[in-house]
Amino acid sequence: MNKLFDLSGRVAVVTGGNRGLGKEIALGLASAGANVVVIARKIEEEVLSDLEKHGVKAMGIDFDVLNFHQYDELLEQITEEMGKVDILVNNAGVQKRHNAVDFPKEDWDFVMDVNSSATFYLCQTFGKHMLENGYGKIVNLASLLSFQGGFRVPAYAASKGAVMQYTKALSNEWAQKGVNVNAVAPGYMNTEMNTALIEDEVRSRQILERIPAGRWGMGTDMQGAIIFLASAASDYVHGITIPVDGGWLGR
Ligand SMILES: NC(=O)c1ccc[n+]([C@@H]2O[C@H](COP(=O)([O-])OP(=O)(O)OC[C@H]3O[C@@H](n4cnc5c(N)ncnc54)[C@H](O)[C@@H]3O)[C@@H](O)[C@H]2O)c1
Repeated sequence: MNKLFDLSGRVAVVTGGNRGLGKEIALGLASAGANVVVIARKIEEEVLSDLEKHGVKAMGIDFDVLNFHQYDELLEQITEEMGKVDILVNNAGVQKRHNAVDFPKEDWDFVMDVNSSATFYLCQTFGKHMLENGYGKIVNLASLLSFQGGFRVPAYAASKGAVMQYTKALSNEWAQKGVNVNAVAPGYMNTEMNTALIEDEVRSRQILERIPAGRWGMGTDMQGAIIFLASAASDYVHGITIPVDGGWLGR
């Protein structure tokens, strides 16, 4: 492998790495040589064995990212086993759909807590460790709705807008200290998060017609951008959000 993209010996943590985009992101990092820690509310053993097929070390931790007060223990558990953390991919995310006029406060808080606050405080906890080591790569999952408003998902749009903004804020503080903070913005991807859209024939067709690439995205489509932002190839890249959207935003 080109050494710019080689992650051999690196330790990567992927939240929500059990399924959907997170699983393919974890597998992509392993394929580039990284040892991978998957964090999920309930770890699937199959994910760990799939990771190990790449000849890397895999670790799974049952953890709900809403347990803010346990982040230090989480980091400690990882460093005890893996020695350090070089790469953090904040992938865990949730969606709630309601008309804005009826959007319940409970769902607003839930989406903001998981997508925005948990991602920020995980950046803070793992970022502190990376700053001490003078090395780190953080990749946050933003969205097309970091750029656009969407329909019936105001909390999600607000949470992902926040992710894109504090990705810049963190990179301003940490760029000189060896820690890169960037984000990726997936387009319309074929995962469980979008079941409601995919099952709605009209919305599904409207979305597909607007994607220049002519297809919905797949988890594997995320791997190139993630490996780039996790590797030496992006050492001088700070605070950006890379769309992986089949051309949607350019339309
Ligand atoms: N699918 C898309 O079209 C799309 C588009 C833009 C952005 N994204 C973002 O990509 C990321 C992955 O989305 P996906 O499509 O794979 O969705 P998904 O629903 O398939 O997976 C989300 C993952 O996050 C985990 N998760 C959710 N809440 C958690 C919690 N409290 N603690 C620990 N883990 C938790 C889930 O268990 C799951 O593994 C999310 O941040 C999402 O917002 C997805």
